[in-house]
Amino acid sequence: MNSAHYRFEPATDKVARRITKMRPSAVRNLFAAAQRDDIISLAGGMPDVSLLPKSAVRKAAKAAVEKQAVTLQYGGTNGVFETAQVFCDIVRDIGIRHKPENVIITTGAQEALDLIGKTFLDPGDICITEGPTYLGALQAFSAYEPDIHTVPFDAEGMRMDLLEEELQRIGKGNPRLKFLYTIPNFQNPGGVTMTPERRKRLVELSHEYDFIIVEDDPYGRLRYEGGHCLPMRALDDSVIYLGTISKMFAAGLRVGWIMAPPGVIGKINLAKQGTDLCGSMFDQVMAAAYFTETPWQKTLQRFVKTYDTRRRAMLAALDEYFPPEVTWTHPEGGFFVWVTCPPYLNTESMLPEALERGVIYTPGTGFFPDGKQGKNCMRIAFCYESPENLQEAIRRLAEVIEDRLELYRAFIEAGAIKE
Ligand SMILES: Cc1ncc(COP(=O)(O)O)c(C=O)c1O
Repeated sequence: MNSAHYRFEPATDKVARRITKMRPSAVRNLFAAAQRDDIISLAGGMPDVSLLPKSAVRKAAKAAVEKQAVTLQYGGTNGVFETAQVFCDIVRDIGIRHKPENVIITTGAQEALDLIGKTFLDPGDICITEGPTYLGALQAFSAYEPDIHTVPFDAEGMRMDLLEEELQRIGKGNPRLKFLYTIPNFQNPGGVTMTPERRKRLVELSHEYDFIIVEDDPYGRLRYEGGHCLPMRALDDSVIYLGTISKMFAAGLRVGWIMAPPGVIGKINLAKQGTDLCGSMFDQVMAAAYFTETPWQKTLQRFVKTYDTRRRAMLAALDEYFPPEVTWTHPEGGFFVWVTCPPYLNTESMLPEALERGVIYTPGTGFFPDGKQGKNCMRIAFCYESPENLQEAIRRLAEVIEDRLELYRAFIEAGAIKE
């Protein structure tokens, strides 16, 4: 063979257009730094699995080992039927009635997001998300090259007035408009919850403008104050509902689910066949055993109590240490607080200073499809560190912000930048 045909470098010039458009997850990139002992991490949304009783984990794992003829074998693409039944049972108390035959079990909710993109999006199609939104959803959807439109939220969730304006711009009956993706409970990264009135309005708009609602609900059971809000799936059968065991049991098991109308389930099944044939049978059987053979609701209460203590510690520290120019959301559940600094402050360029002081957070730009908005914002997570560490982290972060603000205050006084 002619030596000119050898490629000594990986053939990155051959990659598909979609991969050139993908941006790495800021959080994944921060993981390495987060492992350092001297760093307090507010960056990741990791559940604290040390709170799980070993006896419950052992019992669930044992059940999966004992069924090795099933758990170590290939399974159906929709997943283990008994596990789907268990998920249908546990969503009953949040108001959803659904049949296990219309469930697809996925490799975490993350695979569900990819399958939604694969099933519904052609290049140039429109999907709408909150802005900011979960960066894993942006990564999943952007592989299918859609046009992602964002709508801001306030303390009551996605702004329906701004959504209506956006829908009017997109146009009624626009065949390019496919779905609206929302995290109505304790949004990631915003921490805000969509009110029942807005949920109802969103369902109305989905019929008026003909789009599907994709309701992603990983945090719904982690509510620390206020009353439960009915999922949109409970209001309307056409909603696609995504669930996961990651935040109420084990993120490492990689089990999530899609609940949707039968026709949609059939199409998503086709998409999934090409992805992985079937999800992990072992994980699915272990998950079903956890939710049927162990006191999981008691364990959930333990999660809720612990995260609530951490949330209160973070909110108290923010009140105590953060300067008046900075605002933040007040989550009633979930893992995250969204912080907004004055517009002239850049949280990405500030990150090395924060690292130097031993604290990391996730800069805001990764949560927007254009990677440009949210420059002055950051997501801080309270789920993983102890209350003492959270207080210390916020104190350090406040110092970093103060240093920057001091610099900018001088510029503002000199008239060099606008307030
Ligand atoms: C809003 C949202 N959706 C989906 C996921 C993915 O969850 P899973 O671990 O089930 O893949 C996450 C994970 O953090 C999330 O925050």
